[in-house]
Amino acid sequence: MNNAAKLRIAVLISGSGTNLQAILDAIDSGELPVEIAAVISDKPAAYGLERARSVGVKAIAIDFAAHTSRADYNAALDAALAEIDPQLIVLAGYMRILPDPTVNHYLGRMINIHPSLLPAYPGLNTYARALQAGERHHGTTVHFVIPELDAGPAILQYRVSIDATDTEDTLCEKTQRGEYIIYPQVIRWFAEGRVAMENHPDCRTIMDGQPISQPIVIDADENTHP
Ligand code: GRF
Repeated sequence: MNNAAKLRIAVLISGSGTNLQAILDAIDSGELPVEIAAVISDKPAAYGLERARSVGVKAIAIDFAAHTSRADYNAALDAALAEIDPQLIVLAGYMRILPDPTVNHYLGRMINIHPSLLPAYPGLNTYARALQAGERHHGTTVHFVIPELDAGPAILQYRVSIDATDTEDTLCEKTQRGEYIIYPQVIRWFAEGRVAMENHPDCRTIMDGQPISQPIVIDADENTHP
């Protein structure tokens, strides 16, 4: 596939960037027809920026701590995104809540990965909360971003079982293994025009031209693949 046909994406991170790495690897192997126009982090020390630089991808630090106000930081982020003009924004461990106008501007063109089987466990500390509640299953969800936190239409989930011996670390490890499968997969679907978000009358996921009321699920134990 030539460059002209590639979807331009921006990846927003705050930390280690293992999901970013999975996306970079999928691009490198020729499985993902996208071009990362830039990786942006609110933390200059985020290791994900290093991952981007090491393969020649533009890495931009917009240091939240160096801005005088949240509004100032948001304006800098908006300006950077406008300059990049991405066709899709991929939130990959970006730990800030984006303001509504930014989310609305990119509505249907922004996705996130959240480590739970949404709508269960929005917010933080999902592994600890799932273990604490005695859940039998946990997982991770790729969804479109809407102003309400972790509430946008889900696209694809990866589901794992929780064993009696699981700790936060083991649960995180097996869930993230699934993230590295489902995030590149959804980006590929978006690039191919197979998945989109419809906004009226409600926000919902459209897959292959049909609305879906439930996300597609890959079950780690059944080894099912969409
Ligand atoms: C991922 O596990 C994702 O679910 C959550 O943040 C984590 C980011 O990890 N939103 P990494 O920076 O991609 O390693």
